[in-house]
Amino acid sequence: TKLYKIAVIPGDGIGPEVIQEGVKVLEKAVELTDVRFDFHYFPWGCEYYLQHGRMMAEDGIEQLRQFDAIYLGAVGFPGVPDHISLWDLLLKIRKEFDQYVNIRPITLLDGAPCPLKNTGKEQVDMLFIRENSEGEYAGAGDWLFKGRDNETVLQTSVFSRKGTERIIRYAFETARKMGQSLTSISKGNALNYSMVFWDQVFAEVASEYPDVPTHSYLVDAASMLMIKQPERFQVVVTSNLFGDILTDLGAALAGGLGLAAGANINPERTHPSMFEPIHGSAPDIAGKGIANPLAAIWSASQMLEFFGYEELAGSVLKAIEQVMVEGAVLTPDMSGKAATSEVGDRVVEVLASMHAAAKAQA
Ligand code: NAD
Ligand code: IPM
Ligand code: MN
Repeated sequence: TKLYKIAVIPGDGIGPEVIQEGVKVLEKAVELTDVRFDFHYFPWGCEYYLQHGRMMAEDGIEQLRQFDAIYLGAVGFPGVPDHISLWDLLLKIRKEFDQYVNIRPITLLDGAPCPLKNTGKEQVDMLFIRENSEGEYAGAGDWLFKGRDNETVLQTSVFSRKGTERIIRYAFETARKMGQSLTSISKGNALNYSMVFWDQVFAEVASEYPDVPTHSYLVDAASMLMIKQPERFQVVVTSNLFGDILTDLGAALAGGLGLAAGANINPERTHPSMFEPIHGSAPDIAGKGIANPLAAIWSASQMLEFFGYEELAGSVLKAIEQVMVEGAVLTPDMSGKAATSEVGDRVVEVLASMHAAAKAQA
């Protein structure tokens, strides 16, 4: 039995509402296997900012460092400028803990709503690997001649050899392990430094993986193809900003933002990794108890997988799938009438009965 220390940061808006359901599922997992969790809650976010003038405790990063993983809801809420709230909490954690791999599965599970007709898992089954530490999110730039006629702002992208190579290599390793193709999405025609370099590094690393079939698309064409021919994509590697945008698009293909999960991984495991849904704090539905918790639950399942509980992680996904196929207990974004907590309860029930059935068979 291993005891994992989990830092829970519910955050803003619907963050706490969905995280509560994810924790429910993790607590059920504890009953079903020998995994043990010690949850520690951190009240950081926009309300904390309004009270304390900062998004997290001054030694927040040091406090988090001792945990095995971080489970985060969402950050950002009207009342605090987004660039402050995000840079001082979410993006800070990603950077400080060198979580340079952002894994975002875009898989159309059975029962999930898809805007495309005649489309299922055979067509939509991608694994996005988003660069998560630099690129367009380097945080570098300048604001010149403020308020003058020649006012000019610079937002600099940074693509280091190390940063570019490690994410592309990680993607090749993943594609090889999965026996799938790897698609690189870039924009070398217009971004004549950053993306030319990206394409060059991709070609270099590709030569070390002759067994992995590769494709390379420009980001504009790729966004069209994701809709028109999603089956072209298996493992995908792309830059920080492109990955951000394309995974919301992918989420729409695979059941909506309420179902889209993500993991921010530090592959060397020298720092904690962080698990969080792709969606934000959804101010438009916050406080109503109708947020879809499935994305947060799926992210929790990614955490189980990360700790080596692959089978249990798979069962959580199957439970999510069964709840959607049943269709009786779903939130309004999935055309249901259920509350957030009812969906969480149903996933836990299904998970428990699946486990009992498997045990009876054995
Ligand atoms: P959003 O993802 O919060 O919401 C977009 C739309 O999707 C809204 O209509 C919302 O109601 C819906 N939606 C999102 N999650 C849902 C769920 N679980 N169930 C049902 N519906 C859901 O994006 P936004 O409105 O652009 O951003 C709101 C705030 O969240 C901003 O401050 C933004 O910066 C922040 N944000 C944070 C994160 C994060 O913490 N990881 C991610 C994205 C956005
Ligand atoms: C995401 C979010 C963040 C990002 C924002 C809130 C900074 O949109 O996790 O997808 O752009 O990475
Ligand atoms: Mn995003």
